[in-house]
Amino acid sequence: MRAPSSRFLFATLAASAALSACAGTSTPSTGASSTTTAKPLGDPAIPERVAAQFPAGWRLPSGQRATFAPSVMAVSNSREASAAAAEIMKQGGNAVDAAVALGFALAVSWPEAGNIGGGGYTVVRMADGRTAAIDYREVAPLAATRDMYLDANGQLTAKSIYGHLASGVPGAVAGLAAMLERYGTMPLAKVMQPAIALARDGFVVDTALATSIDRASKTLVRYQRNSPFTPNGAPLAAGARLVQPDLARTLQAIADRGPKAFYEGWIADSLVAEMQRGAEGVTGIITKADLAKYTPAWRTPIRTTFHGYGLLSMPPSSSGGVTTAEALNILEQYPSLPEYGSTRWFHLVGSAYQRAFIDRNAKLADPDFVPVPLAQLTSKTYAAKLKATIADTRSTPTRELEPLMQQAAREPEHTTHYSVVDAKGNAVATTTTLNNSWGSGVWVRGAGFMLNDEMDDFAAQPGKPNMFGLVQGEANAIQPGKRMLSAMSPTIVLDPKDQVLMVAGAAGGPTIITGTSQVILNVIQHRMSLGDAMRAPRIHHQALPDSLTFEAGGIKPAVLDSLRGFGHAMRELRSLVNVNAIMRVKGGWEGQPEPRRSGGAIGY
Ligand code: GLY
Repeated sequence: MRAPSSRFLFATLAASAALSACAGTSTPSTGASSTTTAKPLGDPAIPERVAAQFPAGWRLPSGQRATFAPSVMAVSNSREASAAAAEIMKQGGNAVDAAVALGFALAVSWPEAGNIGGGGYTVVRMADGRTAAIDYREVAPLAATRDMYLDANGQLTAKSIYGHLASGVPGAVAGLAAMLERYGTMPLAKVMQPAIALARDGFVVDTALATSIDRASKTLVRYQRNSPFTPNGAPLAAGARLVQPDLARTLQAIADRGPKAFYEGWIADSLVAEMQRGAEGVTGIITKADLAKYTPAWRTPIRTTFHGYGLLSMPPSSSGGVTTAEALNILEQYPSLPEYGSTRWFHLVGSAYQRAFIDRNAKLADPDFVPVPLAQLTSKTYAAKLKATIADTRSTPTRELEPLMQQAAREPEHTTHYSVVDAKGNAVATTTTLNNSWGSGVWVRGAGFMLNDEMDDFAAQPGKPNMFGLVQGEANAIQPGKRMLSAMSPTIVLDPKDQVLMVAGAAGGPTIITGTSQVILNVIQHRMSLGDAMRAPRIHHQALPDSLTFEAGGIKPAVLDSLRGFGHAMRELRSLVNVNAIMRVKGGWEGQPEPRRSGGAIGY
C-alpha cells in the first residue's frame, strides 16, 4: 500500500456521496433540529482512500462501509445509547449535550461498562477551536492504604478486583455534569430523559448483553442474588425486557437535583450502606466524606502531530494520550511505514509500542501526586532517540532496553468508548469504565447501579509480580485521594486544515492505546476507509510480558515465521480491543462500532 501523498486530495468514497440518510438499527424520530440546518463542514482534507488487503485467513472482510450520515453521528457499544445521543441532537442539542445523554443512557443499556458507579475521561473539541479534557477518574478512598490488598503473608489478594473493597470513589456523575455545564446547551434534566425512560420502561436484551450477563452471572449473584440482571439468581436471557426501577429513581434524583443528589443525598447513603453491608466478611471503605470531596479535574489535552495531522488526547491521570503520542512520534521518524501487514510493519509498530509502554509503565501516574515528564515523553527529539534503538531485523528484549525499562502494567479489560459529532463540527470522545466487565460485581441496593473495581488499576504491590505475574511501578502505588493510572485514550484527530477528521477510543485495558492508535494509523498512513481501518487485524505490545500479541488469522504464516526469526515472542489471541470511531468523509460522517463486538452507529 502506498504512503500518503503530501498533497491533500479530497476523499472520494463514492458510496458516501451516494447515501443521504443515516443507518443504524434504530433511528430517533422526534423534533426539528437546529443542527440539521447548520452550515456543512466541507469535505476532509485527506488523500483518496485505498482499498485494504487482509490476510486470507482473516475473519473480517475488507471493503465494508461504515454507517453514513450527512449531519450528526453517535457511536457506542449500545444502539439504545447511541439513539439517545441522536435524539438529543434532533432536539437541538450539540455534541456535548448528546454525549452526556449517551453517557447516562449507557449506564442503563450497557451496564457491564457504562456507569454512574465508575469514572472516565472526555476530550472535547468545539467547532470554534476550543479544546478541553476532563478527568473524572475514580480516586482512592481516604481510608485506603498502600498495602491494603496484601494478606498477612504479603501476598496479593483478589480484593482489588471483586467485592466491596475494590471500588474507588466514583467520578462519572460529577464529570458528565461538569462537562455539560461548561460546553453543553441543555439542562441536565433534559439530557437525562432518554436514560431515565430506558431504565423505567426497560428495553429488550439483545444477544450481546445477554452473553455479557451470562458470563458475569456467578459474580453478580455472589453479591446480590436478585438484581434486575439476575432475577431470582438466573441470568436474563436475550429477548427478555430489562427494567431497572431503582436506577430510574436514582437517575431522576440526579436530573432533579444535580450531581449533589449522588454525592450527598440518599444515593450517597445507599452507596455507603452497601459498603458497610459488605459480603463474605469484607466491607468497603468509601464514606460520605469521600463522596462529598470528589471533584473532577479539568486538564489540558495532550496535543501532538503525526505527518501533518493533529491529535488531541487524554493526559494523565490516563496514560492514553502520552503513550499514543510517544508511539506515533517514534513511527513518524520513518518517512513512511512499510506496507500494512508486512513483517517490517509488525516489527516497527510493535517495537514502537514496546518502547512507549516502557515509559508508560514506569513514569506515568496521577500528576497531582507524582511529577510526570510530559514534555520529554511527547517530544519528537526523544522519539528520534528511541527510534535509533530499533534494529531493522531483530527485536530488542525489553530487559535490554534498560535503564528505560523499569516496570510493567497489568490492566484488566472492559471499559467502553463513545464518539459523538454534530453538524457544526463539535466533537466529543469519551471513554468510561467500571474496570472489569461489571466492575466489582457489587450492585448498590436501593440505588440500582454497579460499582467499579478500579482500585485494581493501582500498583497494589509495587515492584513485585502481581497475581497475574506482572509488576507495576511505585509511582502508581495506592495513596488516599489519588487517581489510579489508566490507559483510556479518547482521541480526536484533526485534518491538515485543522478540522475534525476522526473521533476514536476503545475498551480493553492497555490494548486501548494500541488499538485506538492503529485505527488512526490505518486511516492516516495506510489511507484505509474507516470500515477497513476498524476491521484490519491488530497487534499489541506492552513491554512486559515481552511479547507481540496478534489476532488469530491476522498475520500471514510467512510473516509470522519471519517475526519469530526476528526474535519476537508471538502471542495469539482471538480478538484485540473494542474500538468505536467516527470519521468525516465527503458529505458527512461515517460511524463504526467495533466489528468484533456489538454496538450502534446512529446519525441523520
Ligand atoms: N480500567 C482500565 C483503564 O483505566 O485503563
